[in-house]
Amino acid sequence: MNFPSLIFLDGGSPEEAKKADELLKNSGHPGIQGQTTNPSLIARSALKKLKFHGSPRVYLRTSEALAFYRQTVEEMAGILAGPISVQVIGDTDTSYKEYLRQGQEILTWIPNAVVKFPCTYEGLKAASIACHHGPVNMTLAFSQTQAAAVYTATRNSKHPVYISPFVGRLDDQGLNGMALVANILRMYRSLGDGHVKVIAASIRRIDHIIYAISLACDIISIPFSVLTAWVNLGFPVPHQDFVYDTHHLIDIPYVNLLLTRDYLEYAYDHEMTFSGVSAFFADWQKALGKSK
Ligand code: E4P
Repeated sequence: MNFPSLIFLDGGSPEEAKKADELLKNSGHPGIQGQTTNPSLIARSALKKLKFHGSPRVYLRTSEALAFYRQTVEEMAGILAGPISVQVIGDTDTSYKEYLRQGQEILTWIPNAVVKFPCTYEGLKAASIACHHGPVNMTLAFSQTQAAAVYTATRNSKHPVYISPFVGRLDDQGLNGMALVANILRMYRSLGDGHVKVIAASIRRIDHIIYAISLACDIISIPFSVLTAWVNLGFPVPHQDFVYDTHHLIDIPYVNLLLTRDYLEYAYDHEMTFSGVSAFFADWQKALGKSK
């Protein structure tokens, strides 16, 4: 069984990766084709493990937290050969140089590492350099202009480049997150050279998966609970006459952009990207027993 979209797991647990891989394989699918992680998921997983082992401590030292992230993705790499996205840790004031330093380090962890940078000025700047040294995944994408910036920032990359539009978080704001995925795919397919692959991320519902498949989105990264529900329903796929139910979410219209500008000329700033970076950092800090 194969779909026009690759199936990635979004999570922070090798145990889940193993279970999801087995579940897919037992259901006639080739198995998990990649993995995405983020600091919130890893922090949650690390704290859960501390509690499980009965530790009286309720937080980790910085070195332990990083070692835990590394060990987690090393274990994941033992389960799946596909790309594993590992996110840089930083707040809204972290410099691109610091992101680059972390990115170089992450590439030494596992052979299939993809460095995840945020779609901010510093993240884009870091990615424009890092994409010549290894694969990158631009996370927290909430607009088509950010996708245009990602495209031109990484234009001559020698390595795979991914972008992760966050569907569920846009839905949460009353906007149709899947429309953004459709718009980015349309822009890249009509104007691009195919060097940026689109990962439908922040997936919350089975119909997000079905619509992403009907769009032949390159990749769908799905949390364990939604993936399990989809597989247990027998992998529902779009019918010929499939129409996505927007649940009255507000449309995000397509914007006519050209993919010819310098990346810094696009309107890449987005409030939800900033708050997303802050929230990831706050969760990481919480695991270290620090509040922001
Ligand atoms: C994607 O790469 C992220 O890890 C993830 O999809 C975020 O999902 P959330 O919006 O449910 O936190």
